[in-house]
Amino acid sequence: MKMTLNISRETRNDLKLTAQAILHRGKGILAVDESGNVLNMESIGVKDTSENRRKYRQLLFQTEDLSQYISAVILFDETLHQKTDQGVPLIKLLQVQGIIPGIKVDTGIVPLVGSEEEFSTEGLDGLGKRCAEYKKKGCRFAKWRSIFKIRNGKPSDYAIKHNADILAQYAAICQSNKLVPILEPEVLVDGTHDIDRCQRVTEKVLVAVYTALHEHDVYLEGTVLKCNMVTAGQLHDVSLTSDTIARATVATLQRTVPAAIAGITFLSGGQSEEKATVNLNAINRCTGKKPWTLSFSFGRALQASALKKWGGKDENTLIAQTELINRAKANSEATLGQYRTGAVRGECCSDELFVKDYVY
Ligand code: 13P
Repeated sequence: MKMTLNISRETRNDLKLTAQAILHRGKGILAVDESGNVLNMESIGVKDTSENRRKYRQLLFQTEDLSQYISAVILFDETLHQKTDQGVPLIKLLQVQGIIPGIKVDTGIVPLVGSEEEFSTEGLDGLGKRCAEYKKKGCRFAKWRSIFKIRNGKPSDYAIKHNADILAQYAAICQSNKLVPILEPEVLVDGTHDIDRCQRVTEKVLVAVYTALHEHDVYLEGTVLKCNMVTAGQLHDVSLTSDTIARATVATLQRTVPAAIAGITFLSGGQSEEKATVNLNAINRCTGKKPWTLSFSFGRALQASALKKWGGKDENTLIAQTELINRAKANSEATLGQYRTGAVRGECCSDELFVKDYVY
């Protein structure tokens, strides 16, 4: 039986406007919701402590003109309680620039009981209460990540349905607490599969997600999809052009994603900064029906060069911020299909950022 989500007309309108603002033309999302220890600070010789994460994120949010290219930032709970050196809450740095703050609300990936090497995502317990608190603290959207691994005939129908249902429950809880849900069903790039297999799996996952959202009566106009680009597995031996990736990605979305949603923001999924930008550009240049805004919500592919340039040293603040703004501008151009390959160089812009079984 279909459920009824009881939210007022006014709330629906607010959710829709917020979702549209997140998908503002020429802008995208900076995803800095990595849990402690995920940022890989050790690789640049910096201890991964709460204080170092505070300093680093302060640097990111104080980047001049950030709001020209970034509409929204996804935070991790820890950041919400942190302040600048001068005692200003970090979230305030975003709000004064008109950048929309949001929060990762899932509490992580766990093995899926009843299946092997498949996953579920935790965090539904007490979610309504947490959403209400986050809303009070100034968050306007939330994010939830589910992952699907391609391997030995998997993901199974069971894992797909299980995670789609959880995503829909999460979305309904968010909307009843006036937060826009960003739904992140990620088909991982781990594996040897080809692009056709990734396309088939991504289609199946997205169909399941939108079926579940329909069953839970989620208000689609007040949602944002965050998904993977359709590409081959990281260990597949044929390299693909950005046009091939773009065509497969757009075809997948055309077949599965309702035109009613505000838009789609891609995760970078281990691609290098430059590859992620070039592929996003190709997606936006791809001809054919695209009723949604197609933008970015990159974590690694927006931060890798900035993080490396910073290297934990205060005197590197400005050059690290320059890395961030340059890459953000490149991605902004890519949302308009106007990026010229190689136009932006960066400290490590061509480095693959793949991490096996990436946790967030
Ligand atoms: P990546 O862009 O590094 O894949 O991370 C995106 C993400 O899931 C953060 O919200």
